[in-house]
Amino acid sequence: MTIEDLDQGARDILAANDRGGYTVPNGRVYPFQWNWDSAFVALGFDTFDRPRAWAEVETLFKAQWDDGFVPHIVFWQEDEGYFPGPQVWDTRRTPVSSGITQPPVAASMVAILWENAKAAGEADTYRPRVELLFDQLLAWHRWFRDHRDPEGRGVVVAMHPWETGRDNSPEWDAPGEPIDISNVGEYVRRDTGHLDAKMRPTKLEYDRYLALVQYGRAQNWDHAKISQGNPFKVADVGMSMMLLRANRDLLTMALDLGRTNEAAEIQHIIATAESGIEWLWNSEKQAWCSRDLISGKSSGFITSASFLSFYAGLSDPVKDTAMLTHFARIGSKVEYMLPSLDPEDPGFQMIRYWRGPVWAVVNYMVGKGLAEAGYDAEAARIRKDTLALIEKNGFYEAFSPVDGTGSGGDDFSWTAAIWLALG
Ligand code: DGY
Repeated sequence: MTIEDLDQGARDILAANDRGGYTVPNGRVYPFQWNWDSAFVALGFDTFDRPRAWAEVETLFKAQWDDGFVPHIVFWQEDEGYFPGPQVWDTRRTPVSSGITQPPVAASMVAILWENAKAAGEADTYRPRVELLFDQLLAWHRWFRDHRDPEGRGVVVAMHPWETGRDNSPEWDAPGEPIDISNVGEYVRRDTGHLDAKMRPTKLEYDRYLALVQYGRAQNWDHAKISQGNPFKVADVGMSMMLLRANRDLLTMALDLGRTNEAAEIQHIIATAESGIEWLWNSEKQAWCSRDLISGKSSGFITSASFLSFYAGLSDPVKDTAMLTHFARIGSKVEYMLPSLDPEDPGFQMIRYWRGPVWAVVNYMVGKGLAEAGYDAEAARIRKDTLALIEKNGFYEAFSPVDGTGSGGDDFSWTAAIWLALG
């Protein structure tokens, strides 16, 4: 296939997964709107249909709650093909949504949409839209500060593995052990009806996911209560880095839009994160690692999210050198960067979701961060591998870093979007 064929293929996937104002990640496995998927999908649309790109994010924010929270799934229409559906979440909101959030990448993507609109001479058309989105994004970022950082450390504390977007990363294994799964009851998974179970989380992981949903539901999805008593509280290195980056991008927008007061507020949030995130540095592993708030223990796992420090704009020569050493070591062990788990970890599994496979969206962010920090060779490796994986195998949800085998759903929206965004 030529590059033109692949470009057309990517646009066709977005068109096929478009449900009118929002895009499903994959029609069978994920038949609703997912939060961070939509943010990346907007980047893809922006390469050929600007109004549609903006609509993707605007539709997501129609589901924002009064407290600023933005859900991880919006159930715009019914579909029996997914579990747990709206009745299980029972958030009693309109539109119907889940009660947990997802990595806050939307501000970073809106900042790019806005720059592209200005560069195309369409600032006047999009200014009112970016003004509204700015307020919605800031409200969401404040919600993170108020409800996902119970100790005020300047990090993001996930209250559910699904919030991290990296659902079954081994970082959540030890913190998940104390979760009581004795009352979860019987349920029928739908994901393993669509996909090989070897690519998906285990039953034990699903039991824990559901126990946490039941806990949130028992609190009537009161986020203040959940942030106090939730049985799972992990400072996720991925979300913490992505929110820091998103706040930097939101600050750029604030200054551009003349929002002086908000800019000062965001600067304060950034300063808190810049110093607080040190808590996630594991000096024994010489790496950025997630850390359990309840036990206080660092996970010690080196995952693809560890490398988001560059994307977060943390420039510390000593830590950067340590991370680049890990990058070189990992890069010598796999054909394709960046595996979601260190391939030297005994739990590495090349096609099991977030325990090995490469994800195009993480590569996009890590590659961008490395390029901005001036690590050109590493950035080039990520870019080359991402494009090669898609060219050789198709637009899969994820890929084996060992041999490129597609993992998870095919014709995947965010993989198509990243292909287009990488140009
Ligand atoms: C799933 O169902 O696998 C999703 O990742 C949860 O958001």
